[in-house]
Amino acid sequence: MRRKLVVGNWKMHGTQALVSALLEEVIAGTANLSDEVEIAVCPSFLHLELAKELLAGSKIKLGAQDLNAEPDGALTGEVSASMLADFGINFVIVGHSERREVFKETDQLVAAKFAAAQANGLTPLLCIGESLEQRQAQTTEQTVISQLDAVIDRVGIQAFSEAVIAYEPIWAIGTGETASPKQAQEVHWLLRDHLSDQDAAIAGAMRIIYGGSVKADNAKDLFKQADIDGGLIGGASLKAEQFLAICKSADF
Ligand code: 13P
Repeated sequence: MRRKLVVGNWKMHGTQALVSALLEEVIAGTANLSDEVEIAVCPSFLHLELAKELLAGSKIKLGAQDLNAEPDGALTGEVSASMLADFGINFVIVGHSERREVFKETDQLVAAKFAAAQANGLTPLLCIGESLEQRQAQTTEQTVISQLDAVIDRVGIQAFSEAVIAYEPIWAIGTGETASPKQAQEVHWLLRDHLSDQDAAIAGAMRIIYGGSVKADNAKDLFKQADIDGGLIGGASLKAEQFLAICKSADF
């Protein structure tokens, strides 16, 4: 049985005051959730320290939003996988569509980041997803499979035994338009089926979570789908009440 996973991606939002208030409520509100659901938050790099202090002793895991693929070096402004591991980070998001689109990250760079994260004992949370144009052109399947294959080609299927995939259709991110449970399930099944061609056990245990306008009122229907193992939550993860309701929707 795959444990559900709900991750808050705070993106470039928040102040120290917001982080403190939000985590205080989230820690209190998730204390009684069953062990069937795992929760993580990904603050900005600047807020990781504060979040780590606040989360000490709680069940909530800490994630980063990005990393540099190089081990170290003269790369002003960057943060390496070993720095994140040394700090005590559990998860790191790689290949978010905002990084692919705004910062022009290629499939190859995303694969290198995935490899660097794993080499340092971090669990990569690999984001893949199609644009609206790709969905309309009916190339969703080839888009997400080629994004996934770029990483499998680099690290091998075995590496996926310690990873999470997030399917995030770009047209659903921050738009208020969620993929329907059926649309999301179709892609999640496709991804699992593709992994299964290479290793059925890894595919069966792989957590594939959904992201894109997940809210308190649509989370449950998404999480009930056979191949949806939780959510990667943007906007709604910044509001304690919404995020808590989403976490509770995963606890069944
Ligand atoms: P929203 O939940 O704001 O649509 O963002 C989804 C996302 O990009 C999470 O990584």
